[in-house]
Amino acid sequence: MPVGIDDLAIYIPKLYVDYKDFAKARGIDPQKLEYGIGIRKMALVDTNQDPACMAANACLKLMERNHLHPKDIGRMYVATESGLDESKAMNSFVVGMLEQVYGEDAFEHAGGIECKFACVSGSYAIYDNANWIRADENNGKAAIVIVSDIAKYDIGSAGEYTQGAGAIAILVKDNPRLLSFDQKVTSTIIKNEYDFYRPIGKETPLVNGNYSNLLYLIQVRKAFDGYKEKAIKTGLISLKDGESITDHIDYFSVHLPYRKMGEKALAYLLRHEWRSLPRWRQVIRELGMEEPLPKDPRGTIESILADVEFMKTDDKFRRAFMQTSFYNEVYEKKMASSLEASAIIGNLYTASMYMGFRSLLEFEYKKGVELEGKRVGFGSYGSGSSAMVFSGRIQPGYKEVVKKMNLEDEIGTRTKLSMEEYEKLHEGRTLALNESILHNSREFVLTKVGGITADKAGFREYVYAN
Ligand code: CAA
Repeated sequence: MPVGIDDLAIYIPKLYVDYKDFAKARGIDPQKLEYGIGIRKMALVDTNQDPACMAANACLKLMERNHLHPKDIGRMYVATESGLDESKAMNSFVVGMLEQVYGEDAFEHAGGIECKFACVSGSYAIYDNANWIRADENNGKAAIVIVSDIAKYDIGSAGEYTQGAGAIAILVKDNPRLLSFDQKVTSTIIKNEYDFYRPIGKETPLVNGNYSNLLYLIQVRKAFDGYKEKAIKTGLISLKDGESITDHIDYFSVHLPYRKMGEKALAYLLRHEWRSLPRWRQVIRELGMEEPLPKDPRGTIESILADVEFMKTDDKFRRAFMQTSFYNEVYEKKMASSLEASAIIGNLYTASMYMGFRSLLEFEYKKGVELEGKRVGFGSYGSGSSAMVFSGRIQPGYKEVVKKMNLEDEIGTRTKLSMEEYEKLHEGRTLALNESILHNSREFVLTKVGGITADKAGFREYVYAN
């Protein structure tokens, strides 16, 4: 029985900063942001928004669009790294908001939890819910997994231009219209790491930028090795002489902390997969340089990063490789469409890979490409750190969903903030919830947060603003 993604609905807050304003204020060349990072607009939350109300807004859209009743939903999970309470799960807030629309106790049968493992937890949540359906525990019902986050970094830090905010509600069911997951090939990897983390009580993360980039690449590649082994063993993919597993994947959708990271992940993966194949000689011929090796190829990430000479030549090699016809053919055909949304929204942590998947569907469809039966390979990464690699095939019913996709329309009219307004918002100087910049209607907003000691301490109150 095919199980997978039937539809996805997005909620992106309507405030943003423009990269040109940002570059000017920070004294950065705008070309670095546009091309070096791949960002043009970064979405930001208003004073009366949080990850829970973004999640509820995305979920309500998904349900209304698909004429779903709460009875059709057996489980609702929220995956996030922007938790609001050390104990109370975010899906409980979401259920509370949705019941304002669907009536008290409308979701009481729909169990679920909040999941956390940085940006990868949504993929674990989807995998677990797909298996819940496969195990026939679902009593004919579907699951909704909502990925929702606010990526917020310190002002003036290198992470500041990789911010963003938004939520995606994903409908997981049998006989899905969009994508059916390939079975028995999902592969995961995990290691205790401190590449990016946010200690309890701290609003912004502590980041080891270059380390996190390299760790992402290594972890996804290791999970990809596990995927490859399983795909060959189960007969999902059989390789002829000279073929690479990447030849059997029609699209790549990977975690996108920023657009350029997707491009770099593809380059890393192709280098790893092609290095031992006859085609590599042709790549090297076009490049006119040999691939460099670190002094200690079996060394730690720290030792590789400390190998300055190697890092310099490897960067040169990687940039040159990304200019070759070999890389560009794969990039244009199999990845470029998945990166479009990232450039105008920014990092969505748990939601960023799923925004990439949605972007790929919309923009490939708009190019007129026939997508039925195409295999999408996913590379999900969460700092801390874990990676999950899996794949699925686009289903015959996809057009019914994809033809209605329109990213700009779904985001809605956006309001550009000046850098002054942005900084005020960032530092919480406009603290009052009722001092929001926008007054959006037909969506959930946060109206009150209980103090520490008062009656209803810690309560978060939301309303559906008409
Ligand atoms: N024109 C065009 N490009 C330019 C340029 C210019 N004038 N100036 C610089 N660039 C290019 C650089 O050459 C570089 O390109 P390559 O990647 O091809 O080498 C690119 O711009 C980035 O510049 P830097 O290497 O100087 O990097 P930075 O100091 O700006 O930091 C970062 C980049 C490490 C990603 C930083 O933004 C950061 O720490 N971000 C947060 C952490 C993060 O996103 N890590 C990603 C992996 S971890 C993860 O994925 C989990 C998660 O969601 C956080």
